[in-house]
Parts: sequence; C-alpha cells; structure tokens
Amino acid sequence: MPVSLNTTMNTNQKITVRTLRDYKARGENILMLTAYDACTAAWAEAAGVPTILVGDSMGNTVLGYSNTIPVTLEESLAHTAAVRRGAPNAFVIGDMPFLSYQVSVEEAVRNAGRYLKECGADAVKLEGGLAMLPVIERLVTVGIPVVGHIGLLPQSVLKDGGYRLHGKADDEAQALVADAKALEKAGVCMMVLEGIPHELAASITAQVATPTIGIGAGPATDGQVQVLADLLGLNAGGFTPKHAKRYAELGETAIAAIRQYVSEVKNGDFPA
Ligand code: KIV
Repeated sequence: MPVSLNTTMNTNQKITVRTLRDYKARGENILMLTAYDACTAAWAEAAGVPTILVGDSMGNTVLGYSNTIPVTLEESLAHTAAVRRGAPNAFVIGDMPFLSYQVSVEEAVRNAGRYLKECGADAVKLEGGLAMLPVIERLVTVGIPVVGHIGLLPQSVLKDGGYRLHGKADDEAQALVADAKALEKAGVCMMVLEGIPHELAASITAQVATPTIGIGAGPATDGQVQVLADLLGLNAGGFTPKHAKRYAELGETAIAAIRQYVSEVKNGDFPA
C-alpha cells in the first residue's frame, strides 16, 4: 500500500534537536508516539506528532515476542528505516535493543551510528542512567544525539522479575534524580521517565533543563510518549497498561472487516 505523505503537520518543517529545546523553552508539551512502519509513521506525522520513537516495544507489539529482550539490531534498523520513509520530517528516534550498546563503548558507537547512516534517524535512545554514562558521553562526543531513559527499564525485566513502579523508596528516588542530572550533564537531547511516581517526575523535570518525556510518570513532564498499539487498540482484547488510554479499537475494526471479506468471498458476493 503506498504511504501518503500529505500531512496536516507543517511538512516543510523538519523537527530537530533545536525544535525540541524551543518546545521546552516555550513550555509547549512535547508529543511522542511509537511507530514501527512507514504506514503508521505517516499517520502519526499527519496527526501532528513531531517525535516518533521506533521503540523496542516492537518486540511485544509487532514481532510477537513476549518482551523486548529478543529484539535484534537488524530488526530495529529495518523498522527505523521504514518509519523514516513514512515520516520524513518527524524527529525519528531509533531505540537500541538489548545488548546492542551494553557490551562495549566501541560496539555502542558503531551500532548507534548505523541508525543515523543507514536509517536516517535523528537520534538513538538507550536505557540506563549513571551506569550507561561512558557510552552516552562517547556517543554525544562523536555527534550522535541521544535520548536517555530512566525509571522502569523494560530491558531489565528479567533482572527485576517483572515491571514495577520505580523511585517509590527514598534511596531509589534519589538515585533517579542523580541519574537525570548525569544524563543532562552528558548532553542527552531528551530523557524518557518511565513508571515513576508523579511527584518525582515533576521534581526531576524542574531540576533539569533537558526536556523530560513521561510514560506512566504523570502530567508534569515536558512531554508524553505512548505506545501506538495501546492508543489505537491494535491488540484486540489484549492487555492495556494502566497508564495508557485507548482512543480507538482498530484491532476489533480490522477483525470485523476481514470477517466480512471472508464471508463475501465464501458467498460469492466479492468480487462482484
Ligand atoms: O520501546 C518503547 O516503546 C519505549 C517507550 C515505552 C518509552 O521505550
């Protein structure tokens, strides 16, 4: 299916790291949505979403894995390139999968660079605060824009034994503030705060000049990110996280449409 690139967003305006800084300076909410292919990326851009995360949530939402751990670098690169083709002006972020940046700084630089060189991405995202600082500092030094991600880290689901709110206890909250400040010092262009108490997200947002993007972190962050499949109800009857709001039930609509097609072909009503 051809992807229409006619959008209602100002399509002549390429979103850059400068645009993101201007959003925060003006106190404008920064909108981010995940997308994994050209079609849904074009939908997001047409709806006025300036920043698109090609999340490793693709593992659960489109690749059929039960978490993000199995997602490979090659899968992530292919999906990021598709999103770029569908949304030429959005700020596209490639989400580095598990073990593509943790093994060594050198490997992280080489892998991160592929998102920019081969996919046309504007930035990469990786999970972790202080522990990931040597990697993040090196990426920024060589000119790769980095989006940080702290709080609930889905790539640590096996270590943590599940998904839970982070930063409830005082020591965890203090560690997250230290992480956020370290990410800012390292020069990240945005940071995702996932699954942390609302007051803590508000406090971090007030303490850093870097735009914060929340998911399950309340309304006080500089922007919000949501997973497209949750928003559109793509996984008919499937699990929806507490922090998500379903704005449509496209999964149900699709099943009904396909059922009608099946029935019309069986009855001989289609093709006419
Ligand atoms: O992979 C993803 O979609 C993410 C968001 C939940 C922030 O990392």
